[in-house]
Amino acid sequence: MQAAERVILTGASGGLGFAVLMTALRRGAQLVVCILRSEAAWAKVKAELPADTLGRVTVRFADLTSDAQVQALHGRLPQPDAPTLAVHCAAEVSWTKSSRLVVPLNVGGACRFADLILADCRQHTKFAFVSTAYADDGETPRNAYEASKCEAEHRLVDEYGKRLNLRVVRPSLIVGDSRSGHILRHHGIYPLLRLIALAEVPCLIAEDTSRIDIVPVDAVANELLDVESWRPTTTIAAGERALSVGEFVRMVQDLRDDWRRRRDCVALPQISVINRRQYDFLMHAAGSWGLSEQFAKVQAIASIMDGYVRHGETGRPLRPKAMIRPPIAPSALLPVVFKAWADRQGARLADAPSPTWRAPAKEVRRVDVG
Ligand SMILES: NC(=O)c1ccc[n+]([C@@H]2O[C@H](COP(=O)([O-])OP(=O)(O)OC[C@H]3O[C@@H](n4cnc5c(N)ncnc54)[C@H](OP(=O)(O)O)[C@@H]3O)[C@@H](O)[C@H]2O)c1
Repeated sequence: MQAAERVILTGASGGLGFAVLMTALRRGAQLVVCILRSEAAWAKVKAELPADTLGRVTVRFADLTSDAQVQALHGRLPQPDAPTLAVHCAAEVSWTKSSRLVVPLNVGGACRFADLILADCRQHTKFAFVSTAYADDGETPRNAYEASKCEAEHRLVDEYGKRLNLRVVRPSLIVGDSRSGHILRHHGIYPLLRLIALAEVPCLIAEDTSRIDIVPVDAVANELLDVESWRPTTTIAAGERALSVGEFVRMVQDLRDDWRRRRDCVALPQISVINRRQYDFLMHAAGSWGLSEQFAKVQAIASIMDGYVRHGETGRPLRPKAMIRPPIAPSALLPVVFKAWADRQGARLADAPSPTWRAPAKEVRRVDVG
């Protein structure tokens, strides 16, 4: 695959952006211009970069929610004549924040970056926008983050599509590298992985057979940098190879047990996957067991994950168009990703206490509501 000479990249201090930076350098980019919002972010990126690549990376600072700061970059991007690929990874990725907090970056930031690229790149420039596989025009967005991604896709296509060589890349849930398991930040599915591994709740509300779709960060980075096979919209997802919720939970617990056994740690309890009907039934009993606090957390998690881990009547499966499937199957990817994550947790995972819900949870598993 041919590499762009110059890459202008936002979000390089984030999970995906850093993988894009490393992949661009590995694939021979002559210059990567990182647009970051702080010295602290740049220090973090620099600390992770191999010394022999530093000469090919430069930084410009701007908060992408600020018109003035992005305006100040106009005319200050190096090598404006070089064939350029712009990759927009910066985003507010929280699934729980309101529109007021996510739109200024996820929609406004995307448009400001597109304006900058249009104004400052003299050669015909390719512009890759990272959206999400869960942005679906035909459906109501699950949260403000998803709505903002849909809106940004529309704004970019409608307002910049004729002037920029635009493509939209839509990954499902991004996890670590397919070989090393490494990713700079643990977002997306990682909070759920942690919750299962540390047995933080007695159960998850989900249909056991619903899918959790994960893709390795290197597959997404490679796709974003692929300037040869330039498609307007691509979804990167495991599709029908995605693990079911039940498989995901059981695999994480087995991997956790194995990781802890090797360190002579006591076994942590298994958590249950129960569906909405079983959950509602349990709620009647939970009050008398004094478990309402733990179940409040279960409920909160269910509403955040709702739709990603499909359950109840409100969920829906991923129906991607123009899909690319990474070569590694999720069942082979998860052990690599888990090991890298667990090794980063270190003492936190080794010293995880047996949860307070442990004894009553046996009751939870015995409940049969048919
Ligand atoms: N993670 C997933 O599972 C997933 C799945 C599908 C799609 N995506 C998409 O992939 C992209 C990257 O996600 P990620 O998980 O890598 O996110 P991330 O780790 O949270 O990284 C976000 C990046 O955006 C930067 N940023 C935040 N606010 C900014 C601002 N106001 N101005 C400039 N930069 C700002 C952050 O910089 P700081 O270091 O300063 O915070 C960081 O570099 C996003 O577009 C996301 O929607 C992610």
